Amino acid sequence: MAPKAAAKRARELRERIDEANYRYHVLDDPQISDQDYDAMLRELLDLELQYSELATPDSPTQRVGGTPSAGFPPYVHARPMLSLGNAFDEAELLAFDARVKKLAGLEGDVAYTCELKIDGLAVSLRYDGGRLTEGGTRGDGSVGENVTANLRTIKTIPLALRAAKGVAVPRHIDVRGEAYMRKSDFERLNAEREARGEPRFANPRNTAAGGIRQLDPKMTAERKLSFYAYAVGEIDTEKPPASQHELLDYLRALGFRVNEHARAVPSIQGVIEFVKAWEDRRDALDYEIDGVVIKVDDLALQAKLGSSGKDPRWAIAFKFRAREARTKLLDIVVSVGRTGVLNPNAVLEPVQIGGTTVSNATLHNLDYIRSNDIRIGDVVTVIRAGDVIPRVVGPVLEERGKKTLPEYTLPTHCPVCGADVDHPAGEPMARCTNASCPAQLVERVRHFCSRGAMDIEGIGDQLATALVDSGLVRDVSEIYALDLPKLLTLPRMAEKSASNVLAAIEGSKRRGLARLLSGLGIRFVGSQNAAILAGDFGTMDALAAATEEELLRSEGIGPEIAASVVLFFAQEPNRAMIARLKKAGVDLTAPLRPREPVGVLAGKTLVLTGTLP
Ligand code: IVH
Repeated sequence: MAPKAAAKRARELRERIDEANYRYHVLDDPQISDQDYDAMLRELLDLELQYSELATPDSPTQRVGGTPSAGFPPYVHARPMLSLGNAFDEAELLAFDARVKKLAGLEGDVAYTCELKIDGLAVSLRYDGGRLTEGGTRGDGSVGENVTANLRTIKTIPLALRAAKGVAVPRHIDVRGEAYMRKSDFERLNAEREARGEPRFANPRNTAAGGIRQLDPKMTAERKLSFYAYAVGEIDTEKPPASQHELLDYLRALGFRVNEHARAVPSIQGVIEFVKAWEDRRDALDYEIDGVVIKVDDLALQAKLGSSGKDPRWAIAFKFRAREARTKLLDIVVSVGRTGVLNPNAVLEPVQIGGTTVSNATLHNLDYIRSNDIRIGDVVTVIRAGDVIPRVVGPVLEERGKKTLPEYTLPTHCPVCGADVDHPAGEPMARCTNASCPAQLVERVRHFCSRGAMDIEGIGDQLATALVDSGLVRDVSEIYALDLPKLLTLPRMAEKSASNVLAAIEGSKRRGLARLLSGLGIRFVGSQNAAILAGDFGTMDALAAATEEELLRSEGIGPEIAASVVLFFAQEPNRAMIARLKKAGVDLTAPLRPREPVGVLAGKTLVLTGTLP
């Protein structure tokens, strides 16, 4: 085919495919068969392969996913994407309405638009001259990530705007809305994953959010995401809509899918009825909603009300009650976090909550377990609020009946390394005391090398992780056993940077006891207490041999700190590590500080007379 004829045919195909897409995905009213559609798409793909200049970014072929990108450039929003304040009950809705009236100086009713709050992620789409040019995530409201290629894979996002129902295509418009995943698409995707032996995705929201952030648009396309439009940012057109409900119709006329359940209501009473009706009906929908968004209908009034901080004064989100379920608490397992904190987690008999199977939930800490009287073997209430980790609320005491279940106690030894656990009385958190505990190692290495401690330039989060993952560093003393051949086994490590790191390590040997102590991350021993202890004891050996009473004689060292220091040096792995630091030539000494007399009586002479018992 001649280039000119090819271009003409491509244009024709594009228009027909766009039309078919719109009918199928937006109107739910397909007019051609899947085979005809596929045939047109294949013909267009062939043409674009032959004449690459025909493969424009707004071609429907781009919906199957363009080329992968290395990362996402920033996407600057022309107008900020606001978030929403929340209301949880009728009283808070009435208070919102009263505030709107007061600020607007209105006596009568305020009209609102009620929209279902789709549980996905907000994105913004930029159309110039009617063509989708760019799209981005909300990010912090001012700058998000440019994920244009991924957004193009969403079939309910028009690549070109339509002019329908007497509506002119705007010269420029930012359309905002929710990218989300239908429950049915989510189930299908999970069924496919299971069939391939892959783990299931947790819920539609996270799968949609993860899908939008795929580096390869083909992966986004596979998730079959959807989009509902509900707002406009910057707009340049002759006759912009004057109210929120007109705006929704306007977006519909431009070719967007707009949620069909949105309603304009004349007063807050109408809002309350809408909210009540949907709380019970939400499960009948093929997508997850977590509430209702209520917006002042009059856009001029919206502008007058403005926003306070990140939240508009003209809109509010009514949040549905968190999802709850009851199930049996089979066990409590303890994991160790990067800072050594012991985290108790509930092992549950699997239960469905809001479309997700929950078999694990957080129990926060021992205080939480105790104060809520949660025991292994109980039937417990579990909630999954929004996208946060499910949480055990408490036991269903009627179910416990006369059964005697033992109170839960935390392990006295770290489940990862077996060292003593430190749990100061009255503290919610318990911690592993072993500085070489694998669970804490990355964080410990990073802290050890940080500026306030041993100041080893070049060992930050990334290298610390690589050193621990590769097994080269099993505790901080092994940093001093690194050499060029070892460092060069790490990915992306060049000879130049490796020798810089080695020089920095060598230099750190002379930092002295105070810096070293603060680098070891002994609980309660930050730079200040480290300096006091180093000055009072002078050597690591003297400090390691000190009893609690001896430590308490140092100014500012209280019982908690003293106990923590003693516990640290009582751990065999910690003592072995210090021996290795010594052997490597790390300076374990500090100039002794002369002991000044302290206290309110210092420097005073007191003469006592009379009889003293
Ligand atoms: S309007 C000021 N409308 O809810 C305008 N948001 O909690 C703010 N959302 O970030 C957005 N459905 O991701 C609006 N019909 C709807 C919505 C909606 C879901 C999400 C959106 C937003 C979040 C705010």
